[in-house]
Amino acid sequence: MFKLKYYFFLIVFSMLTLQAADKNENKIIINADLGTVKINKNIYGHFAEHLGRCIYEGFWVGEDSPIPNTRGLRNDIIEALKDINPPVIRWPGGCFADTYHWMDGIGPREKRPSIINTNWGGVTEDNSFGTHEFLDLCEILGAEPYICVNVGSGTLKEASDWVEYVNSNNDSPMTRLRKENGREKPWNVKYWAVGNESWGCGGNMEPAYYADNFKRYSTFMHGRDLFKVASGGTDADYDWTETVMKKTQKFGHLIQGYSFHYYSVYPGWNPKSSATEFKEDGWFGMMETTFVVDDRLKKHIALMDEYDPTNKIGLIADEWGSWYEVEPGTNPGFLYQQNTLRDAVMGAIYLNIFNNNAERVKMANIAQTVNVLQAMILTKAEQLVKTPTFYLFKMYKVHQDATMLPLTIESEDYEYNGKKIPSITSSASQTNNGDINISLANVNPNKDIIVDIDLRGIANFANVKGEIITSEKMNDYNDFGKPEKVNIKSFSNFKLENKKLTVTLPSKSVVTINLK
Ligand code: AHR
Repeated sequence: MFKLKYYFFLIVFSMLTLQAADKNENKIIINADLGTVKINKNIYGHFAEHLGRCIYEGFWVGEDSPIPNTRGLRNDIIEALKDINPPVIRWPGGCFADTYHWMDGIGPREKRPSIINTNWGGVTEDNSFGTHEFLDLCEILGAEPYICVNVGSGTLKEASDWVEYVNSNNDSPMTRLRKENGREKPWNVKYWAVGNESWGCGGNMEPAYYADNFKRYSTFMHGRDLFKVASGGTDADYDWTETVMKKTQKFGHLIQGYSFHYYSVYPGWNPKSSATEFKEDGWFGMMETTFVVDDRLKKHIALMDEYDPTNKIGLIADEWGSWYEVEPGTNPGFLYQQNTLRDAVMGAIYLNIFNNNAERVKMANIAQTVNVLQAMILTKAEQLVKTPTFYLFKMYKVHQDATMLPLTIESEDYEYNGKKIPSITSSASQTNNGDINISLANVNPNKDIIVDIDLRGIANFANVKGEIITSEKMNDYNDFGKPEKVNIKSFSNFKLENKKLTVTLPSKSVVTINLK
């Protein structure tokens, strides 16, 4: 009798437990055997503009600087960036690109004319950082250069000559000039943007006018295997996308990429909010505005699918990130902002969206690498700080060139002030050597979340390990001269049984689980 009662109790208990487990609203199904699309490593790309202290006092300190440098490029920045494998760097802008005349930035530095940076702070730049210095930086880092030509205030000849100067192997006035300036071999730059934000700072053009100009420029930017990127409209300008797609449809050889920019801003552009002084309202607002990217991308992609059904043109998200008020006391035109745990979690939403849309998204460039907007690195004189976003890029580098694994997510809501967004975001991929990496973020700052992950189509994995980015407070950040508060730590709050992975995600965290 006692035994019967015991078994009865056991059955009821197991049923209740099973039911409770089933009730978990947070489930991910990963189809590990259905991966066909590669996550282009260029999704982990960067953007470095002549803006504030990104180039000057950032990457570039000059050869005579007491700060240790290689041919004028700051060594500590190079060393830090190597750790996150920057695959591609976009330069010289941004809005700056449509004011830049590249010939001012070549030849002996003491003879280069100066330029007023009319977009960013009205400061005078001496052009000591130009084409050779940028391409030197890319070579040192092993990153592909991505150059934006001046369509707004430049000429077609300037653009065409620039391509010839850096890429041609023939004897010509441009290649002779390059050689005179110390570079014998061409650099073979593949990625070229034809203008930047041509709807705004790049010339305030109409989409049809821009599309015609794009075709003209692209026609005369000669070279084999160039990847030429057309400027997109504002983030929700689908008319611009449709016009450019339609007008270039019969000219497939001219267009390889189409650009998309999105900045997360809260509560609005004017006034924006502080990067570090915020409460839950600021946390939620930034997450909410970032989740919107998925919808924007999908709508642009749907239009691209219509005009480019064979998926030849890549969507190039060549500016993205958070945009706050500048740090108190700094030049408002320099866009210098700190970077907290919030930025790492928000960045994970972006990167997961890009990974999951990798079939069309072929490159993305976070704005910007050093000292500007959502930077990886901040500098103050000889000091350097690695931001939470730096650590996000370090954690996510496992996805570079891996095969994207399609997944479905069911997530409980994170509710704030009557508004709702999903609590979890995720993407997964498989490397060439068979490792599976699953990245997850819990955007809820108040609650740990248990996620049940159903791994379909996998073999058994012997080793599982995890890494986490989190911190005590949502606005924790890394600061000069202080111990780091936000970085990567090892993580073990998960269990793998029968191809079911259960992960307990701490509130406000980003986690990557590696299955080997
Ligand atoms: O990244 C800062 C600026 O934002 C860029 O120069 C411009 O393209 C965008 O509006």
